Amino acid sequence: MHIGTTLTQFIIEKEHQHVEATGAFTGLLNEIATACKIISNGVNHGGLAEDVLGVAGTENVQGEEQKKLDVLSNEVMIARNQWGGHVAAMASEEEDDIYNLPKEYPRGKYLLLFDPLDGSSNIDVNISVGTIFSILRCPEGIEEPTADDFLQEGTTQVAAGYALYGPSTEMVLTTGNGVHRFTLDPNVGEFILTEENVTIPEETQEFAINMSNQRFWEAPVKRYIDECLQGKEGPLGKDFNMRWVASMVAEVHRILNRGGIFMYPLDSKTMAKGQAGKLRLMYEANPMSFIVEQAGGASTTGRERILSMKPEHIHQRVPVVLGSRTEVERVTAYHNEG
Ligand code: AHG
Ligand code: MN
Ligand code: MN
Ligand code: MN
Repeated sequence: MHIGTTLTQFIIEKEHQHVEATGAFTGLLNEIATACKIISNGVNHGGLAEDVLGVAGTENVQGEEQKKLDVLSNEVMIARNQWGGHVAAMASEEEDDIYNLPKEYPRGKYLLLFDPLDGSSNIDVNISVGTIFSILRCPEGIEEPTADDFLQEGTTQVAAGYALYGPSTEMVLTTGNGVHRFTLDPNVGEFILTEENVTIPEETQEFAINMSNQRFWEAPVKRYIDECLQGKEGPLGKDFNMRWVASMVAEVHRILNRGGIFMYPLDSKTMAKGQAGKLRLMYEANPMSFIVEQAGGASTTGRERILSMKPEHIHQRVPVVLGSRTEVERVTAYHNEG
């Protein structure tokens, strides 16, 4: 009847390693985990559940057509995290502005940011999707945060994690002391520790990029991918494999497990819309960069470390090059050769 170490047990037992392992932090993580279990249940029921697949018929602030599960997952993350007195406010890919709590709820000391459903173009075709979250401290003495209170560098994150709704549902978490992996036991309803101190191999022969954007890339990216495609006869001296799932959570999870380089670079297509790439800094790039760096990998925009960027607005987009350190440093060097 032994079930292993639960998420809550891990946070409390390792309290000395978690700067924030106070009751409030543990309470917040528990509610995030509950939200992810509810979303997992919705994802796993797919077409069997009432009205969770397909498009919602609405557009979000990103200009994307929302899937029903984008909206439902967002509602779940808000509903589960607004009542407990652990957060002062929230920010979501699916909310135009920050989400201030209804006045009847107590305010807490954290700010919670999330992408409630990552990879949502995959949900109707039953390919893995996820939820990404980032936890910041609410500035001292702020009862009612504004969007500016969220604009903190990625290095200030208290914790970051994601849930991956794949063949099994997993949660990956860092609180600044390594990266740890939990698998949902559906019979018990608990996330059980399956791997501590996950590390990304420094070397890799696998790259992930949406090749259909090749004509829009900058020269350093074109150069690097071209060198990968030349295989061992080329300047990199090794053959490469390619993967592209179109769910950042799935790509990062694969890279955490077997290495790789993931790139969603600057491209002239998004620049024409005044956007610096596709991925959002506050609830995609920053949490994933925290996780990747804690696992020994690297994460840059191609030019600079993502975690050190000073955010300008909550839906800001940034180019992302992350994964196995050797390859990320190579691509970053190509960009900085000028
Ligand atoms: P989201 O579904 O939250 O909007 O994020 C999708 C992102 C990311 O998960 C993925 O890596 C990327 O978009 C895929 O982009 P393309 O569809 O352009 O390949
Ligand atoms: Mn989206
Ligand atoms: Mn996303
Ligand atoms: Mn999303």
